[in-house]
Amino acid sequence: MDQFEKVAAARQYIEQRTDLRPHVALVLGSGLGAFADEVADRTEIPYAEIPHWPRSTAVGHAGKLVIGRVEGVPTAVMAGRVHFYEGYALQEVTFPVRVLGSLGVRSLILTNAAGGINTELSQCALVLISDHLNLQGSNPLIGPNEDRWGPRFPDMSEAYDRRYREAAREVAAGLGIRLHEGVYAALSGPSYETPAEIRYLRAMGADTVGMSTVPEVIVANHMGLRVLAISCVTNMAAGILPQKICHEEVLEAGEKVRGQLIALLRGLIPGLQQS
Ligand code: HPA
Repeated sequence: MDQFEKVAAARQYIEQRTDLRPHVALVLGSGLGAFADEVADRTEIPYAEIPHWPRSTAVGHAGKLVIGRVEGVPTAVMAGRVHFYEGYALQEVTFPVRVLGSLGVRSLILTNAAGGINTELSQCALVLISDHLNLQGSNPLIGPNEDRWGPRFPDMSEAYDRRYREAAREVAAGLGIRLHEGVYAALSGPSYETPAEIRYLRAMGADTVGMSTVPEVIVANHMGLRVLAISCVTNMAAGILPQKICHEEVLEAGEKVRGQLIALLRGLIPGLQQS
């Protein structure tokens, strides 16, 4: 079975579980899974039940697809995602985005936990991703191209939709939420960076650093989906503060910004569908 057929099998399974056809999809990052409970009229499908769908092993990732309505908009929410560092191939990491795209989703919102490199950021800052550096050492599109999904050499000059970013700034301002903007560098992990690596990333133009999102964004662009991504700065990156980075801290910071992030996402979703 090739990737196209696997995606079709997963799509068909989901279509049997619910009559709702999502327009918007949301991927929730580490410690940011609470939004799944905000979905009305929801059908919850554990990842384990969906054919070929990868299952997350990371602590803080639930592992279910929730389909329902957010502010009336048919929305699919992924509570939990898999990462390259778990040992999955990037084709597996991005499998869910392929399925969501083939279900008819046109707008993809991603959230993640990230380390702050720009010293104007601080713990719990929310950062709209304006662009990225793919430093994972691979690309999910390596291999034969599936022309039914997109072109061999997709353009990435506006990977994070400009109009969505404008909308996000407006919604945040209206809610009184401070929303920073910056470049996200994706590394493979799972070890956190060294202080020398953080200085190197800063010199390259990165404002935040993390271990996810970029493969999904590449695949979403390949399929012509419009993307919006928001990082939660769960810690300042290595070497900035005189302290070590621990995963518990990352999850706790996610908890703290939960309310703000939920309000922001709720405010954003209705507008994405129209623009
Ligand atoms: N580095 C990489 N990934 C992360 C970090 C970090 O400091 N914090 C949360 N995810």
